Amino acid sequence: MTKTLNVAFIGCGGISKYHVKNVVSSPHLRLVATMDMVEAPARERAQEGGADYWTTDLDRILADPNIDAVMVFATHNTHADLTVRACEAGKHVFVEKPPAMTIQEAKRVQQVAYETNKHVMSGWWFKHSPITKRLREVIAKPQFVLFTCRIPRTNAKTGHPHSEDPYAANGILDLAGYNLHWIWHVVRSQPVEVIAMGYGGQATNTSTILIRFENGATGNSVTSLAGGGGIIPKHYAEGGAGDVSAATLRFGNLVFEGTDEPGIVGNAYHNGFDEEMSMFADLCLNNGTNPMDIWEACIPTVIFEKAVESMDTGRAVPIDVHKEFYLPNGELPPSIAQFGDN
Ligand SMILES: NC(=O)c1ccc[n+]([C@@H]2O[C@H](COP(=O)([O-])OP(=O)(O)OC[C@H]3O[C@@H](n4cnc5c(N)ncnc54)[C@H](O)[C@@H]3O)[C@@H](O)[C@H]2O)c1
Repeated sequence: MTKTLNVAFIGCGGISKYHVKNVVSSPHLRLVATMDMVEAPARERAQEGGADYWTTDLDRILADPNIDAVMVFATHNTHADLTVRACEAGKHVFVEKPPAMTIQEAKRVQQVAYETNKHVMSGWWFKHSPITKRLREVIAKPQFVLFTCRIPRTNAKTGHPHSEDPYAANGILDLAGYNLHWIWHVVRSQPVEVIAMGYGGQATNTSTILIRFENGATGNSVTSLAGGGGIIPKHYAEGGAGDVSAATLRFGNLVFEGTDEPGIVGNAYHNGFDEEMSMFADLCLNNGTNPMDIWEACIPTVIFEKAVESMDTGRAVPIDVHKEFYLPNGELPPSIAQFGDN
């Protein structure tokens, strides 16, 4: 492969406006083409990224031998199918989160990625934040972790209320999937049981998901669409072990208590997100380690599906990670076995 990765966008809506800037600024990426079901956004992103062409024809992208990799930025219910088709067409894939809506979809994508030997990376970018890295350095084995995601009930852009369907855009898997991945990554233990409750006894976005881990730690993911979001910013997280605790407001800072270890006073909010495009270029061009492979990226899908089952049934639901991933050789994928530290 050349030292430039030729890429195409699939889906040219809101998030692609951010990613296109990081593609353009990377010396190792070239935007060859853009594709969307709708002409206008495909044309706009092509102009911004200096692409050779734009199209509404997915097959043209998949058949183009000049394209090494696609970046899937379409709506999340399309991610699994588009990733499978792109791998089968011989392309590496960066797919926005969540890469799969269900465990069944997740296993299918994992199997195809494995069998085609294509790099598939996804976008749970809180993992890459210096806040996350520093917290994990100081508290290696937290006994509890809390992550909350509060969004205003009414969408500021449209004025319409968000859907309470946990599978919808802005649903738990979409927005609070970050919570679920981060809790697992920080706790460094496998989930063994989930008990979740939604508002009004329903499987809804306004809910609490409690996770019990193999090592005895507990995780608590709170999602709320009630009211205007509350006094705490959209993302707030904390964890503790023994006498030491840590908390972060919006990943803009990190405060420790019970230790002299310094925290982080100011941190640019979108830092992990900013680096994803160059991480993907490095992965594909240099065959490096995947910082968010398709197995790790599906941890939220697994916990989410069990949580929805728990909200529906009112019962605790067991999780056996050995059963919830495509396992090519009968062993846990390294990224899962090592909690994203592979
Ligand atoms: N990592 C992050 O911080 C972050 C932030 C926002 C959104 N996202 C993710 O990015 C994805 C897109 O979000 P968005 O806010 O840009 O949505 P959006 O609705 O603004 O844009 C989606 C675009 O995809 C197009 N599209 C839909 N189905 C398609 C298909 N089958 N083929 C080609 N194009 C198709 C639509 O026409 C639209 O232009 C979501 O999955 C979301 O979870 C990630």
